[in-house]
Amino acid sequence: MTMKQSSTTDNSPDSRPNMLDALSRAAAAVTSDLSLPRTLQTITDIARELVNARYAALGVPNEDGTLKAFITSGMDPGEVRGIAHEPRGLGLLGALLESDHPIRLNNIADDPRSVGFCEHHPPMTQFLGVPIISRGERLGNLYLTDPLDGEPFDEDDERLIVLLSKHAAVAILNAQLSEQLQAMALSRERDRIGMELHDGVIQSVYAVGMKLEILRGQFPMSQEQEAQYQGIIEDLNQIIEDIRLYIRNLRSAREEQATFGQQLNNLARHFHDFARVEATVDVPPTLRTLTQQQRHSLTQIVREALSNVARHAHATQVRITVREVENHLTVSVEDNGQGFDPSIAEKTESFGLRNMEQRARRMGGQLHIESEEGQGTRVIVSVPFRP
Ligand SMILES: Nc1ncnc2c1ncn2[C@@H]1O[C@H](COP(=O)(O)OP(=O)(O)OP(=O)(O)O)[C@@H](O)[C@H]1O
Ligand SMILES: [Mg+2]
Repeated sequence: MTMKQSSTTDNSPDSRPNMLDALSRAAAAVTSDLSLPRTLQTITDIARELVNARYAALGVPNEDGTLKAFITSGMDPGEVRGIAHEPRGLGLLGALLESDHPIRLNNIADDPRSVGFCEHHPPMTQFLGVPIISRGERLGNLYLTDPLDGEPFDEDDERLIVLLSKHAAVAILNAQLSEQLQAMALSRERDRIGMELHDGVIQSVYAVGMKLEILRGQFPMSQEQEAQYQGIIEDLNQIIEDIRLYIRNLRSAREEQATFGQQLNNLARHFHDFARVEATVDVPPTLRTLTQQQRHSLTQIVREALSNVARHAHATQVRITVREVENHLTVSVEDNGQGFDPSIAEKTESFGLRNMEQRARRMGGQLHIESEEGQGTRVIVSVPFRP
């Protein structure tokens, strides 16, 4: 006996346990530890079984309309692979995704919303589709085609599938929640490792450097030993810089969400900790939003400018200023150090200034350097908001 018959006309005592059994299997799948695709597969199989349909499918769209999950039941895998492409949410399925109510049809082809089937798709006639909705949010759809007994889908079938769609909604929401929890746990773990490295490892390396500095004053050293000694201190500083870089990478995922101003403040704080040079940041509070690419390129330019200040300027202060001038954004990094002759920028073999200039040009902008020996240096990058 089929569930289809039992759900409509047959009230024989053994039909109810079957239906209850199917529904309780669906509930068990939702509360089990199965992955979302497997839970949805179970629900889709049960849907097909409950209304005795030839085919069933369940789709969960992403925000951009592509499918995050697409589950079928009643087709063998070869048949599924042979179909030209997964549904694209057009026609009837698109209408279902936007609908608050089930759609029930005796002939798909007769419905004006139908756009026909793609290549190698089996022909389908009767249709029963329900949107999967939770608290007004549309999470996907569950649909069935072609009852095996040839009878159209009826109201009882619809009620059963609506009930199953609620199970699917709970499964999808559970999966979303667990993804969010995992992301939070990962971000906490990143923070923890970053803090351990910063407060533990970096401080220990600093301490070793300090001890070496103290020792240095206690023994007379030849010039050669002095140079070696200096080399060791620089190696230690490099290790600290490497660890800082690693910490920054750990945090970069989170920083992607930070505003440009916050990113500059972070850079200035790191710079101050590292180079012991006072650093201030001046960003207008109403700065227009930049694209992720612009923010990335600009912070890389500022990072190199700061690294140059630390290595070459002998400055005591550095100031990062951001301004909006008409359709342009300018960012300047100004130090009060020893300055240099900017014309060396063209001759130099090194990469820092060249990279900065290239990045600025790629954004459709320019890089200027104002510097005079003894007068400090100002690096200014100016880029259009919309290149
Ligand atoms: N703020 C500054 N103050 C003083 N001199 C600077 C400053 N910025 C750059 N310079 C001078 O310009 C030169 C070129 O800088 P650039 O960043 O291109 O190379 P670098 O820092 O020496 O090496 P790297 O390729 O690692 O960046 C530096 O070697 C330095 O002499
Ligand atoms: Mg440099």
